[in-house]
Amino acid sequence: MSTAFLLWNDENIKKASEWLKNGDVVAFPTETVYGLGADATNEQAIQKIFEAKGRPSDNPLIVHLSDVEQMTRYVTEITPMAKRLIDAFMPGPLTVILKSNGKIAKNVTAGLDTVGLRIPDHLAARELIKAADLPIAAPSANLSGKPSPTSAVHVYQDLENKITAILDGGPTGVGVESTVVDCTGDRAIILRPGGITKQDLESVLDVPVEDATIFETKETPKSPGMKYTHYEPEVPMILIEGSADYFREKMTQHALEGKKVGLLVSDELGRQLKADTVVSVGSREDISSIANQLYNALRSFRKHDVDIILAETFTEEGVGQAVMNRMRKAATYIDQEREV
Ligand code: TXA
Ligand code: MG
Repeated sequence: MSTAFLLWNDENIKKASEWLKNGDVVAFPTETVYGLGADATNEQAIQKIFEAKGRPSDNPLIVHLSDVEQMTRYVTEITPMAKRLIDAFMPGPLTVILKSNGKIAKNVTAGLDTVGLRIPDHLAARELIKAADLPIAAPSANLSGKPSPTSAVHVYQDLENKITAILDGGPTGVGVESTVVDCTGDRAIILRPGGITKQDLESVLDVPVEDATIFETKETPKSPGMKYTHYEPEVPMILIEGSADYFREKMTQHALEGKKVGLLVSDELGRQLKADTVVSVGSREDISSIANQLYNALRSFRKHDVDIILAETFTEEGVGQAVMNRMRKAATYIDQEREV
């Protein structure tokens, strides 16, 4: 199948929505990353998403809605806690997990009795969902295991000829995925850090919010999706936690092993180091712009001839939680400088 590339305008929203109604798969922009959408009530359509991405079938998809009224149609109840979060943060980079009423296709929820729901803060996404008049299930529009796409070109790189269309709405804003929050129990639990921070959630709920991912390992995933390899660049990446001198020492060490070393660093550290391939993710002072650039930076190594990537670590404040969560998942291991 040859993939149609659609610029965002009224005519193409209509065209894309017809394809969705017809059970086809269409990639579209959201404020976080591009999503790979299909009718969440159509099991065969959803199957096409899993096939195009090469996604394991036990990893559930998030359902995208255009407004809260539409959301109420697919859950047993919007709990009071979920209601407060929805009022405060939707549309926006938040996904709430609620009890499903069974109207969403089984393969969307991977057989769970819960469903993840979100209202994206991107006009193209909401126009598309409204025009299709359907709940749209959409994982990130990358091949499983690769960094999520933050532009239509990234989607094209991964899924050319595997999906019906890509709706191009320009580069995404937040750059990391939505925060996934389990709202089925008494307390809100973060299953995946993202664009809405723990502090944001706590400021609205007025009670401590648990972050289930803090001690998360690949063996003890908190959300089904977290056990798989994720966000991987083309070559192994090692996180270096330490001073500029320690970074330099590690560069020398890997170079002596005959490896071509690429760096994924801030502007600030980049200015202190010399290497053939230096990819900057922006200033250390602006973690939001690092979130915005992270996946693009990881992807850019496909153009460079390197054997290994040495990456800087960043603050865990604010959206830094999500940034470091993704970097740890993308990395082979973390190399920490010891205190002397
Ligand atoms: O920002 C985003 O959330 C993007 C855009 C496209 O909306 N979507 C996205 O989808 O990141 P995906 O499929 O790449 O990640 C969905 C995450 C996975 O970790 C999955 O396991 C979790 O949400 N999830 C979905 N439904 C769930 C459920 N019922 N219970 C627990 N976790 C769930
Ligand atoms: Mg994903």
